[in-house]
Amino acid sequence: MPPEDQSQDPQFSAVAQALGRIPSGLFIVTTTGNSGTTGFVASLVQQVGFDPPTIAIAVSRERGPFQAIHENGRFSLSLLDKSSSGLMGRFFGNLKEGETPFDGQQMHTTSAGSSVFSDALAWYDCKLQEGEYNNGDHHVLFGVVEEASLSHEGEPLIHLRKNGLGY
Ligand SMILES: Cc1cc2nc3c(=O)[nH]c(=O)nc-3n(C[C@H](O)[C@H](O)[C@H](O)COP(=O)(O)O)c2cc1C
Repeated sequence: MPPEDQSQDPQFSAVAQALGRIPSGLFIVTTTGNSGTTGFVASLVQQVGFDPPTIAIAVSRERGPFQAIHENGRFSLSLLDKSSSGLMGRFFGNLKEGETPFDGQQMHTTSAGSSVFSDALAWYDCKLQEGEYNNGDHHVLFGVVEEASLSHEGEPLIHLRKNGLGY
């Protein structure tokens, strides 16, 4: 829709449209601990430091793995490309009863014991840092990358949104 058609809708305000042009990658955030591995699809992810190499993720408090990340003190990221994009469907209900998104997938266990997707373009295993920023609907968590791997050559998926006030 052209902008004038959206002018009455606050979701499509100038802010929303402009925010939607900020590019991001597409990731699966996982966290592994005594209760197993949980995860979710995430786009609010960015590198925020070189030394130590630091990544920030924004996690909704409603998100199931939010608590688990704090309990485990770690989170991991699997960066998606075209060939691994199908993994997202595993997190959006395309599962048989009793199945988890991880069943039947090629998972790699990092040195710290975290599960990441072997088929992803790259993965990053992070130690959760103390201190986070609560912006209202998301908590920004920081992790120092302790281990990472580029699995194969390729380009990451780039995520853009028509409405920057949602995923
Ligand atoms: C493209 C995309 C990006 C997302 N990025 C994030 C994110 O960065 N942080 C977050 O907490 N949730 C994010 N989500 C939402 C979670 O993946 C969410 O678990 C998923 O949409 C399922 O929703 P439900 O938990 O309400 O069933 C994103 C969803 C999509 C589709």
